[in-house]
Amino acid sequence: MKASMTRGLLACGASLALLAPALSALAHDDAAAAGAEASADAHTARGGPGQEGRAAAVRAAALVAKMTLDEKIQMVHGWSVCGIGFTALGSGLNGPGFIPGIPRLGIPDINYTDGGAGIADCSSQSLPFHPRANPAATALPAPLALAATWDRHLAYDYGALLAREARDQGFSMVLGGSIGLTRDPRAGRGFEFMGEDPLLSGEMVASKIRGAQDGHVVISLKHFAANQQETDRGTSNSVIDERTLRELYLRHFEIAVKQAQPGSVMCSYNKLNGDWACENDWLLNKVLKTDWGFAGFVQSDWGATHSTVKAALAGLDEEEYAPTYFGSALKAAVTAGSVPMSRLDDMVQRKLQAFIASGVFDHPAQVQPIDFTAGAALAQKVASESTVLLKNNGVLPLSRSVARVALIGRYADRGMLTGGGSSQVISPGGPAVVINPDPAKPPCPTQPGPGNWCEIWLRSVPLDALRAALPQSQVNFADGSDPAAAAALAAQSDVAIVLADEWATEGSDLATLTLRRNQDALIAAVAAANPRTVVVLESGNPMLMPWLGSVGAVLQNWYAGIRGAQALAAILVGDVNPSGKLPVTFPAQLADLPTGGGAFLAGDVPYSEGLDVGYRWYDAKGIAPLFPFGHGLSYTHFDYSQMEVSANGRSVRFRLRNSGGVAGAEVAQVYAGLPATAGEPPKRLIAWKRVELAPGESRNVELEIPRPNLAIWDSASGAWKVEPGAYQVYVGSSSRDIRLQRSIVLR
Ligand code: BGC
Repeated sequence: MKASMTRGLLACGASLALLAPALSALAHDDAAAAGAEASADAHTARGGPGQEGRAAAVRAAALVAKMTLDEKIQMVHGWSVCGIGFTALGSGLNGPGFIPGIPRLGIPDINYTDGGAGIADCSSQSLPFHPRANPAATALPAPLALAATWDRHLAYDYGALLAREARDQGFSMVLGGSIGLTRDPRAGRGFEFMGEDPLLSGEMVASKIRGAQDGHVVISLKHFAANQQETDRGTSNSVIDERTLRELYLRHFEIAVKQAQPGSVMCSYNKLNGDWACENDWLLNKVLKTDWGFAGFVQSDWGATHSTVKAALAGLDEEEYAPTYFGSALKAAVTAGSVPMSRLDDMVQRKLQAFIASGVFDHPAQVQPIDFTAGAALAQKVASESTVLLKNNGVLPLSRSVARVALIGRYADRGMLTGGGSSQVISPGGPAVVINPDPAKPPCPTQPGPGNWCEIWLRSVPLDALRAALPQSQVNFADGSDPAAAAALAAQSDVAIVLADEWATEGSDLATLTLRRNQDALIAAVAAANPRTVVVLESGNPMLMPWLGSVGAVLQNWYAGIRGAQALAAILVGDVNPSGKLPVTFPAQLADLPTGGGAFLAGDVPYSEGLDVGYRWYDAKGIAPLFPFGHGLSYTHFDYSQMEVSANGRSVRFRLRNSGGVAGAEVAQVYAGLPATAGEPPKRLIAWKRVELAPGESRNVELEIPRPNLAIWDSASGAWKVEPGAYQVYVGSSSRDIRLQRSIVLR
């Protein structure tokens, strides 16, 4: 463009002398433009983000070429306003990260917010500096619940909502792409993960990221990598062999990076094989940036940077939450030559390119009212699709003519539980209930937003929702604190519904999978009084169920968000047919866990079970879980027939029929058993589809099986390979409810 302007000026016949300074500036710009093209080539050559990505790379490179050293340094670290209160910077909103813009170059301020399960609010951590214009946002069901929908379109919509509400609050960076394969189901952040399978987790988070980035924000995929526990998260060292890493703990990240090209990846607190994740050359430079061609920027988790030169050279592009290592120390290192200027340029280029490519520069976030009606509708849809019917002996759905219902549960008359930590969302009107889980800590504030390390219940009220759904019934409430009183109420009722809950939070893991506060005894007492007992679990972790045999039905409700109660009531009365499927195995006892169920380790944490994680473990060891991965019942029945696998193993077909009396959705799952020589666990998920069918309706389902889904990591050659030999292909309703099977031979 600059070259054509030069030609235009000359064609006008203007005096060359008069034009000399302008021409020299243009020639300089031409050279800069050529440099920008070359730098952009370097940044897109590694499988960068396509045509638009290339244009973004060119534009970013031109900006980098104009920046001073101080301006570059300003770009590679953030300032946390939350909790830390770096308010002297002026325009930082109340968020965990802020990078001031450079007005002379048209670089806008970038404000960060957390957003795993809706746009989080950390205002409670800070003094009343810079309050947000719209502190409240839509509290969506937890990411683990989203994974339980197995619905990629819904994951896209979830991401799109994050982008809309972030922008409505003035944020253009969402720290919201949280995954972390569930190795031990007691993980405190398990509710923020997307389950135990790398394909499900990777594809669901990829859709979420695409939805968000199409909405003009950058989203961060986190926490990279092998960050499976909260116990000593800042000091532990995950010790994992390369094959296990590539096939499991890195695989879901790889899928997300390749399918969605997140603008940012957040490296985690822990060490991986001896090196901090945020200064791990193998992890960041080799795997992420070279092998996968990641073109975005790597940011540290908050306080997870440990060095200047080592981290910069290992591939860290941004330090959060303050410039301890990437401020004056990095400037000195660049000046001294221990970090080359080209590396600093690369850091800045990656960041600018990501924000330009996501449209943040051209569509700056504007504070405006949030559309809470739209938010609530999506929250309810996710809650409806994610609730898993684990058991049903016919007690559900409830009859509309049921006379007396007992609703029992701690706050069933007040609200629904959420998971705690940085992903905590404050919804309109504030929380219904705030509890300090640790009396040793200061009391939880209730205004303007409660501390995000407190137990928070949302204003979505099961008692009200159930009464509205059953207008002709008498719905009575007991809080369950007195099991005898609850049992007496259940005995006088036609059906009893117990809402059991378990709070989990960032910062700590659960010690056991036993429901706290003696809730097992409460459920047992209620079930003894009335066998038509329905248990609803509000939890972010699979819980043990010693009372399972004596209750009529169990629903896994996760942390169901701001419309959780309404979605639950619709399922209980059969207005919505449950269709969620478990993204994690529910064990029968603690000792069955792949980790053995003992205390979480500190220091070195060897992942000695290797590839046998989640259902792979239970299959390999022949252990019967309480409920297997992929399990979820419906109020209708689905029949599977006519399975065919193409000879080259690239597609599978079958016919699915709704043979029951009501409409419903089935998540049909395809697993593969690899040849024995591959040395793999008995089966792995390779494809799935969520299919909605009217009563009596049949449909042919055809699914592609991408080759990488059959591949194994060959440590000897350091590459993926597809093992030749006989493969079993299974089609079923869960990992343990296989309906059809074929074998094929791949050479
Ligand atoms: C969490 C991140 C979060 C960050 C900023 C950290 O403690 O691990 O997930 O994005 O804080 O709030």
